[in-house]
Amino acid sequence: MKKQIERCLNTTWVGKNIIYEECIDSTNAYAKLLGKKNGINGTVVIADRQTAGRGRRGRNWISPDGNCYFSLLLRPIIRMEHTSRLTLVAALATANAVRGVTELDTQIKWPNDVVVNGKKICGILTESSMGVGGVEYVVIGIGINANQRVFDSEIEAMATSIWKEKGMEYNRAELISGFLNKFEGYYEAFVQTEDLSMLMKEYNSILVNRGKEVRILDENERICTALGINEAGELLVCDKEDNVDAILAGEVSVRGLYGYV
Ligand code: BTN
Repeated sequence: MKKQIERCLNTTWVGKNIIYEECIDSTNAYAKLLGKKNGINGTVVIADRQTAGRGRRGRNWISPDGNCYFSLLLRPIIRMEHTSRLTLVAALATANAVRGVTELDTQIKWPNDVVVNGKKICGILTESSMGVGGVEYVVIGIGINANQRVFDSEIEAMATSIWKEKGMEYNRAELISGFLNKFEGYYEAFVQTEDLSMLMKEYNSILVNRGKEVRILDENERICTALGINEAGELLVCDKEDNVDAILAGEVSVRGLYGYV
């Protein structure tokens, strides 16, 4: 795996240090330990399977053999409140990498789920730590449903895999190196401005919610039309009275009216 990824990499610094293990509790937990110590910027931690994979909102991420599980350790010099925007940058890189390798029509469900045919094919969990002088580290953890053939009945309607969509196995090293190759350029564009001004056009072009009705799940639950993201990575939504509101990822979630997207 490590050798294969190294062969496919065309980055300057992302993924130059690869830690690969067959089994890890959670690649995010591992990368966070490296973040607390002297882990190198751009280190990637990869596992064949995880025994305690973590999802967003405290959920588990069931991690059987055959899929991609990896976490990237970053040490950006940016404001702490801007670190969550990196999740959108990673979603864009993942959507492009999966499309590049498989030719699947990948889209993004705001803020950071990669979807194919309306079902989730990849999840991203970004975790940051603040040090005395600013951001200590950011860990971006990515799970791509690559070669999984069967899903639990509770998530079957919402989740898919590359295998399910294409009917064939894909090489995980190619998918992971594809991500690392894409991510470096997007990240460098992002850190220049600490926002998505250089990436939002591309992001919006594959945003599955765009032009669709979404239910805004905050204290004032309502149905709006999603317009696209702004430079801050917030989702702009328009209500029935034509008022436009910016929704911040992490604080408010959105649901499509018909099923998962
Ligand atoms: C989500 O809930 O959508 C985010 C899922 C993120 C899963 C990935 S798998 C690799 C990394 N390690 C973890 O423990 N979680 C992330």
